[in-house]
Amino acid sequence: MAHSLALITGASSGIGEAFARALPATTGLLLTGRDEARLTALRDALGRGERRVETLAADLGSDAGRAALIEAAERAEPDLLINNAGLGCFGPFLDNPAGAERTMVEVNVTAPLVLSRALLPGMAARARASGRRAGLILVSSTAAFQPLPYLSTYAATKAFELSLAEGLAGELAGEPVDVLALCPGPTATRFFERAGMAGSSLPIERAEDPARVARQGLAALGRRTTLVVGRQNRAMAALVQRLPRDLVRRSTRRVMRRGLRRRSA
Ligand SMILES: NC(=O)c1ccc[n+]([C@@H]2O[C@H](COP(=O)([O-])OP(=O)(O)OC[C@H]3O[C@@H](n4cnc5c(N)ncnc54)[C@H](OP(=O)(O)O)[C@@H]3O)[C@@H](O)[C@H]2O)c1
Repeated sequence: MAHSLALITGASSGIGEAFARALPATTGLLLTGRDEARLTALRDALGRGERRVETLAADLGSDAGRAALIEAAERAEPDLLINNAGLGCFGPFLDNPAGAERTMVEVNVTAPLVLSRALLPGMAARARASGRRAGLILVSSTAAFQPLPYLSTYAATKAFELSLAEGLAGELAGEPVDVLALCPGPTATRFFERAGMAGSSLPIERAEDPARVARQGLAALGRRTTLVVGRQNRAMAALVQRLPRDLVRRSTRRVMRRGLRRRSA
């Protein structure tokens, strides 16, 4: 299923960059993140020949950054929106800077919400008029399926994205718009280091390749509503949804506390 133009948030790194590289050369790109140098390097790598590749440096933690991106997207008219930008902040809620907790909500929750709300009506209308299908991907996480003490806000934001994607898939079932909640498990990107998890020994060792995550996400769009990447992650997600919530919380608390102690050692 070839889209004409994909808007990818968080394209300057990790899974977002992998999405940009995985899309066919017939799909134009609007790439955004804050790191202008990395976006420019990616544009130079992917924007060969006729392909339209634009970049916009924007902070999705701010109203101004989100508004600038919406304005650029309304001009570009994407038919694929990949809400991927995100961050975590590992540590006790009471000790983490209040600003960092809030930024997670701004980037992981507010940005996908306002981008989807602003762009989906036009995407659906253009898809109806052209007889093609538009796509919406929200990059959630296996963190969405259970509370994660010491990553509490992060897990809550990912649960929001999962629920929003599943709700929108229901609402848009009669429209030519495919919706996917993509739930990767640990993936080898800069996420863990940036979240302050280096040294915690939390599941970084068995991390998935971001290129594989992006490829599987694109392949699942239009075929299913939720994709948990990896057989082991799928089994774990299914299990935690069947176990008593208290039991799950006690066990994630144990694992995450151990990670916190190791990081501090
Ligand atoms: N890595 C994992 O294990 C894993 C697992 C499940 C889900 N995920 C999700 O996958 C998504 C991508 O993360 P990643 O693993 O690829 O991590 P990453 O390598 O750290 O990439 C994060 C991306 O988000 C962008 N971003 C962060 N804060 C931003 C802000 N304020 N404004 C605009 N862009 C911002 C970054 O852009 P700049 O650097 O240019 O600011 C970067 O492009 C996230 O939503 C994350 O929650 C990751």
